[in-house]
Amino acid sequence: MEFNVKSGNPEKQRTACLVVGVSQPRKLSRAGRLIDKISDGYLSTVIRRGDMDGKIGQTLTLHNVPGTLADRVLLVGCGKDKDLNEGNYTKIIGSLSGALENLGAMEAYSYLTDANIKGRDVAWKIRHTVTQMEHNRYHFDQLKSDNKEPAKSLRKLVMNVPSRRELSIGENAILQGQSISSGVNLARDLGNLPGNICTPTYLAEQAIRLQKTFPSIVTEVLEEKDMKELEMGSLLSVTAGSQQPAKLISMEYHGGQADEKPVVLVGKGVTFDSGGISLKPGEAMDEMKFDMCGAASVLGTLNAVAEMQLPINVVGIVPATENLPGGTATKPGDIVTSMSGQTIEILNTDAEGRLILCDALTYAEKFDPEVVIDIATLTGACIIALGRNPSAVLGNHNPLINDLISAGKQIEDKVWELPLWDEYQDQLKSNFADMANIGGREAGTITAACFLSRFTRKYKWAHLDIAGTAWLTGTKKGATGRPVPLLTQYILDRLQA
Ligand code: BES
Ligand code: MN
Ligand code: ZN
Repeated sequence: MEFNVKSGNPEKQRTACLVVGVSQPRKLSRAGRLIDKISDGYLSTVIRRGDMDGKIGQTLTLHNVPGTLADRVLLVGCGKDKDLNEGNYTKIIGSLSGALENLGAMEAYSYLTDANIKGRDVAWKIRHTVTQMEHNRYHFDQLKSDNKEPAKSLRKLVMNVPSRRELSIGENAILQGQSISSGVNLARDLGNLPGNICTPTYLAEQAIRLQKTFPSIVTEVLEEKDMKELEMGSLLSVTAGSQQPAKLISMEYHGGQADEKPVVLVGKGVTFDSGGISLKPGEAMDEMKFDMCGAASVLGTLNAVAEMQLPINVVGIVPATENLPGGTATKPGDIVTSMSGQTIEILNTDAEGRLILCDALTYAEKFDPEVVIDIATLTGACIIALGRNPSAVLGNHNPLINDLISAGKQIEDKVWELPLWDEYQDQLKSNFADMANIGGREAGTITAACFLSRFTRKYKWAHLDIAGTAWLTGTKKGATGRPVPLLTQYILDRLQA
């Protein structure tokens, strides 16, 4: 979809649909009042009749409003002024996109960017409108046989800025919003694709496609024989039961100075997690196709960063494998040696994410990282601890963790910190190896991070557990594209600092 910014009075705009806010109770926004004036009180009359109170979720379309050059005026409820925050603005944009979907208008001019949200400037509102509109318009029906695009649908949204001075700020906000949206959409597509299509080989092909699309990205794909040479015994133990070859993908985005240390993103890419010999119960096992959403978020973020041509270096690393049972599969009790040299007793083959990440995290050292952030659908315990609103963040460097928390707040893709205290490390004791790959039922998200922390001592590191946020279950089942917004915002913030 096309987005644009303009500055001007509503009664002067020739458009298929003018969008103005109404707040509670029955209060017209500035743009609404201007239209009301030119139309001799048309809007206030309609509102007085009780058709539009201004509640969030309400919309009302008016045709041929006198005095305007617009085919329609769409009133959108914005709730009480004092309640207008980021979350409610998201809902308002949701009802806007729902209403526009059902209209015949192919283009619209919105004054909802005039709304007052404490601490948020017009750039934030524009970017948020773009990402939310794109989020709501997303659909995944490439695998349905009847998947034609609807003929009449919105093609273009113009957003108002208070004065011409904000036009360039607005255009930049649109670029950011659209880039984040293409990253999110890529991550959602990859997540939604089933395990029989989105295999490790498929992920590698997508990484190569990124290299072809963006000259600034260089992709390298390591095969199992390369991993053997690098002595990645832990990563290889997870693919042992699978017919699909595992891949270790790295993508280097060069936007900064050649000697500038990169931000390294490491994403868990288990394209299907059956649990292996420690087989999962059957219920909702299909959702384990989403176990590569960490990897998808790495590709999505690189896509966003490359589209914006940001002046920074970013490396994405994706260990990609299936986790399946079979005659050659790794068994509970097996002991493997990781690339770091540390030995691991695999007490549960379903704790496979950490087994592939630990070798990928050791591999990350070769890029001489400024910071390393890993992203993984790592533990069901994370959903028990935090639910599905925030992702969990843990790590060994407080400033990095705080930067991620602040980036998440800015872009409505929140993270919440869990403690990574040494006391928890004891739960990983093994009688036969340097460590076990599970730490018991208690504090499962923390002990998983404790495991990873033993492979990240050489750099600043944070871990994002996205088990509760990477996809929705139930009737809205599907990938969310999180945490692409968070990671992109983190990178944008680094450039500001
Ligand atoms: N991919 C799962 C984690 C998961 C489960 C994410 C359900 C989202 C929903 C991971 O590989 C896993 O199986 N973790 C185990 C760890 C346990 C064996 C220590 C878990 O969470 O049960
Ligand atoms: Mn598992
Ligand atoms: Zn898993």
